[in-house]
Amino acid sequence: MATETHKYLADIIKTTHATLREEARNYGPEIAWKRHVTRKDILQKYTFCMHKLATTYWSENNLSTEDTPICRVDWIKFQCKEYFLNGGIQKYNEREEDIKKKMNVKSVETEDAINYDTHDRHFADSTKKITLLDVGSCYNPFGTSSMFEVTAIDLNGVSENVLCCDFLNVHVGKEKVLSVDKQALLQLPESSYNVVVFSLFLEYLPCPKQRYNCCKKAYELLQSKGILFIISPDSKHVGANAKFVKSWRYMLSKLGFMRIKYEKLKHIHCMIFRKCTFKEVAVRWANMQVVPENDPLYQDDAAFYIPQDFRNFQEDTEEEEQKYNEEETTCMFNELPFEEPKGIHFVHHLVCSFLTSFR
Ligand SMILES: C[S@@+](CC[C@H](N)C(=O)[O-])C[C@H]1O[C@@H](n2cnc3c(N)ncnc32)[C@H](O)[C@@H]1O
Repeated sequence: MATETHKYLADIIKTTHATLREEARNYGPEIAWKRHVTRKDILQKYTFCMHKLATTYWSENNLSTEDTPICRVDWIKFQCKEYFLNGGIQKYNEREEDIKKKMNVKSVETEDAINYDTHDRHFADSTKKITLLDVGSCYNPFGTSSMFEVTAIDLNGVSENVLCCDFLNVHVGKEKVLSVDKQALLQLPESSYNVVVFSLFLEYLPCPKQRYNCCKKAYELLQSKGILFIISPDSKHVGANAKFVKSWRYMLSKLGFMRIKYEKLKHIHCMIFRKCTFKEVAVRWANMQVVPENDPLYQDDAAFYIPQDFRNFQEDTEEEEQKYNEEETTCMFNELPFEEPKGIHFVHHLVCSFLTSFR
């Protein structure tokens, strides 16, 4: 049963997403984003609600056991252990080598591949922590794990350990640069993280190009053989949005990422992409695909599409006659963009009043 509090939290989340997308349509994504990041009160409200939803309403319905993680945070922790501590990294080194041998081209190593062996030995020493960059961290869910040295960033974090940073616009350079008061991150260090996490993050961004730019930035920030986690909300069955999932793999392969894990849990797609030591090995997969002609998902290599990009506000409202209902609010992640059409009338009403207050 959805409580009044749950409905309130869900409304704030939905309204924030719907407003941002509506403004991106009306004024273009750059202007919409600039406006969005200046609205500190909205950002604060959003992360407060998100934290509450994630740590109370969602977690109650998603209790993991140690070897069958069903919530995203546990899934990521479990997979990191498998990859860095239980032989995963070596397995994929070998796979890369095998593929490279089959390819009849001279491979060019990624910049930091020179440290190949040092990197592999790194985790044999159990005192060494896995460096993890959590983008859109909100409440720093990985901060309590002794396995990680976490850099948690958000437009507006809930926890004091979350640094203020707009990932879309932050610089990438030689080293990490903090603001004088140490509350904000001004520059992130290139080729330095073992793990980058995008958990329910990409869908927040209103345009495909912005999402792509974030993936490209993750590539620059990861060490060779480092991994990118993408967790994307979707309560539908595994095949319903399979064409999107495939297009992400295609786009990321072209960037130099090899997909090494995909799992569909009840409400989320869980994916791991490895930054290949040899970029050609990753690109090879994309080159082997027959891309459907005229499919909008493949018209632009520098775009990361989600179903929401193909609906306009009018279609959303016509599609769903349904009022805001209880079933919707009790279903996990329906607050997030992938799931939006239900209850859109109610959201439309909220968005209109929300927008009016800013004009
Ligand atoms: C849906 S929440 C996900 C929170 C958390 N990662 C989780 O899985 O529960 C999305 C978060 O991304 C943050 N965010 C959105 N765009 C961002 C950006 N460009 N830079 C940093 N954080 C961003 C939002 O403030 C919000 O806290």
